[in-house]
Amino acid sequence: MEINELNARISTCTLCDLCKGRKNAVPGEGRVPADLMIIGEAPGKFEDAAGRPFIGMSGKFLTKYLEMAGIRREDVFITNAVKCRPPNNRKPKMEEIEACRPYLVSQLSLVNPKLVLALGVSAASALGMSFSHLSEIRGKVTDGMIGGKSVKIYVTFHPSFPMRFPKARDTFLDDLKKAKELVQG
Ligand code: URA
Repeated sequence: MEINELNARISTCTLCDLCKGRKNAVPGEGRVPADLMIIGEAPGKFEDAAGRPFIGMSGKFLTKYLEMAGIRREDVFITNAVKCRPPNNRKPKMEEIEACRPYLVSQLSLVNPKLVLALGVSAASALGMSFSHLSEIRGKVTDGMIGGKSVKIYVTFHPSFPMRFPKARDTFLDDLKKAKELVQG
């Protein structure tokens, strides 16, 4: 399957109830294939309105920090653990992440990244990681197996966290720099 066909399937998906409240599904965007694939949590209001990932406040913050780390947004593929906006921006439920996982698996296989950068708890959960607190897995490289494919995963905060808590910004930037190093490896 090609990325356009996958996007079309995601845009008309009815596998979970999140489809009922969406204006647009947000499949993801960027390079295919790409060395780096970034996974966030779920679309917010702006993303739902436009059908594009990470274009609201946390998206602008993320894009700025990626640039500071020497990563150009146009060089990566960027998506979310779930492709439709949860009501009132609540966290996606595990059952919604699971319903959406086949799309993530297909994206991983098409993008074929050297590294997957997981932004926060929902992204790490979507990649099958188990942990009780993000601090256990943040800043570490993990070898994962997703849909029969081995992938190298690096976990950092969701950008909304350092956006809200300036003390976490240096760590976030260091993590993004480390991700760039790992890609260049
Ligand atoms: N937060 C996310 O996790 N993803 C988006 O696309 C926007 C905000």
